[in-house]
Amino acid sequence: MSRLPFPVLVLLSLSLAYSSVYLLPGYLNPPPPVPSLSIVKSANHAYGAALAGNNSGINGGDRGGDEPVAVFVGGTSGIGRAMAESFAHHTKGRGRMVLVGRNERTAHAILSSTSSSSNAKNQFIPCDLANSTSLSLCIDALSTLPKINYLILTPGYFSLHPHSDAIPSSKDRQVDSKLMVHYYARWKLIHDLASLLEGATALGEDGKVLTVSRPGWGGRANLYDLGLNRTYGAIAASLQMPTYNDFMIESFALLHPSLTFINAYPGFVRTPLLSSSPTLRELSSYPFPVPALAASLVALAEVMTYPLSRSAEECAEWMWRGVWSSSRASNGKYGENVKGYFPSYVAEKIVDVSGKVKEKHVSHKTGSAGIEGAFRLGAYGEDLGSQRSFGTEDARRMVWEHTESVMSA
Ligand SMILES: NC(=O)c1ccc[n+]([C@@H]2O[C@H](COP(=O)([O-])OP(=O)(O)OC[C@H]3O[C@@H](n4cnc5c(N)ncnc54)[C@H](OP(=O)(O)O)[C@@H]3O)[C@@H](O)[C@H]2O)c1
Ligand SMILES: *[C@@H]1O[C@H](CO)[C@@H](O)[C@H](O)[C@H]1NC(C)=O
Ligand SMILES: *[C@@H]1O[C@H](CO)[C@@H](O)[C@H](O)[C@H]1NC(C)=O
Ligand SMILES: *[C@@H]1O[C@H](CO)[C@@H](O)[C@H](O)[C@H]1NC(C)=O
Repeated sequence: MSRLPFPVLVLLSLSLAYSSVYLLPGYLNPPPPVPSLSIVKSANHAYGAALAGNNSGINGGDRGGDEPVAVFVGGTSGIGRAMAESFAHHTKGRGRMVLVGRNERTAHAILSSTSSSSNAKNQFIPCDLANSTSLSLCIDALSTLPKINYLILTPGYFSLHPHSDAIPSSKDRQVDSKLMVHYYARWKLIHDLASLLEGATALGEDGKVLTVSRPGWGGRANLYDLGLNRTYGAIAASLQMPTYNDFMIESFALLHPSLTFINAYPGFVRTPLLSSSPTLRELSSYPFPVPALAASLVALAEVMTYPLSRSAEECAEWMWRGVWSSSRASNGKYGENVKGYFPSYVAEKIVDVSGKVKEKHVSHKTGSAGIEGAFRLGAYGEDLGSQRSFGTEDARRMVWEHTESVMSA
């Protein structure tokens, strides 16, 4: 038997890895008991209207008068883009949006397509997260914002490169670009922008960070090789980065007692993630049958997985449900009278003196290590609790110290 040529091997492993990483969770995890999408949409709409200063749709009044400011890092495609469009829609264009990414053309297309009722201060800030110079310029630009209510972190790409730093765009820094985009740059953005988020909570408004990775599908962090310097691999990265993201939200929640940090799994979402994969792009330089084969495999995978996947628009509604209903204290303003709306609160039966049974929302432990202000959420914005969480205090501290030394170098 002759050996399979390299491109065919890559293609095979690409489709295998893709289906196991992105499909298996869909098969294994039945949806939790949650309200219907249409109920969630209308609750989101009411919350968005209240944010934009129209309190007629919601109990509890408006939320500070000022326009809400949302920053979407990875807002030029897929989940981030859909969340930005949903934000514009629910705030009736009165929210201020900042899109961050590399693709300027798409960013402007998104901003102008939502512009009919949109805030004139909406803007795009170009940034290659894998380039440390570009990242600091971007943070400088973001630092001029008056405050930040929502920092939405959804940057990422799909690649199967077996070696760290094998991707040409990553020559100028010390960490692998994939890890940079999926973790280190996100950490740096939160680290440097936390005071702007605190500026929002000081006004009595939301100050929340959402990082989208795969909580609930991660693995133990290898504490003997932090940053995967010696043990880098596509699978190691995809197992350990969700856990690094867990540690990240927990550490920041401990450091910033007024802010809320969320790590959410978006479900299996139909986005350009696979078709824009650098691994796929590399295959396009191979001779004739390879690029065509790759393109048809991707198309086939997309068709076959269609029934299991959800649109980015649907995903965005569930993600906003997660963001708006997760809070340190019961703000009681999101979908107040709708059952099942508080991922962080559970209904508890209380028997009063006369023997009557009442239901009361009581505080549930928040986040993987029970840390106040750190939430791990699933595809419907529901609380995952400590499901497949690997948080020990020591591991968290080691990853923090490692990150701090890498990012300040
Ligand atoms: N789709 C899913 O089923 C799924 C499932 C689980 C987890 N996730 C995770 O969710 C996140 C979003 O995925 P998606 O499906 O929305 O992907 P997508 O449509 O491909 O969007 C990825 C975004 O990341 C940005 N990005 C990538 N590399 C960047 C870089 N070097 N610098 C700056 N921005 C960069 C892209 O912007 P530019 O091109 O403008 O730079 C784009 O806006 C990813 O982290 C992904 O791993 C997705
Ligand atoms: C506020 O909301 C109500 C009902 O949703 C709507 O009729 C009204 O026009 C809104 N006001 C503003 C200023 O948008
Ligand atoms: C990194 O970003 C800076 C600033 O945008 C740019 O001048 C430089 O060329 C970039 N480096 C690479 C390798 O792309
Ligand atoms: C990564 O590993 C190489 C070789 O094993 C070593 O020389 C280098 O110092 C390591 N880098 C970090 C940041 O640990």
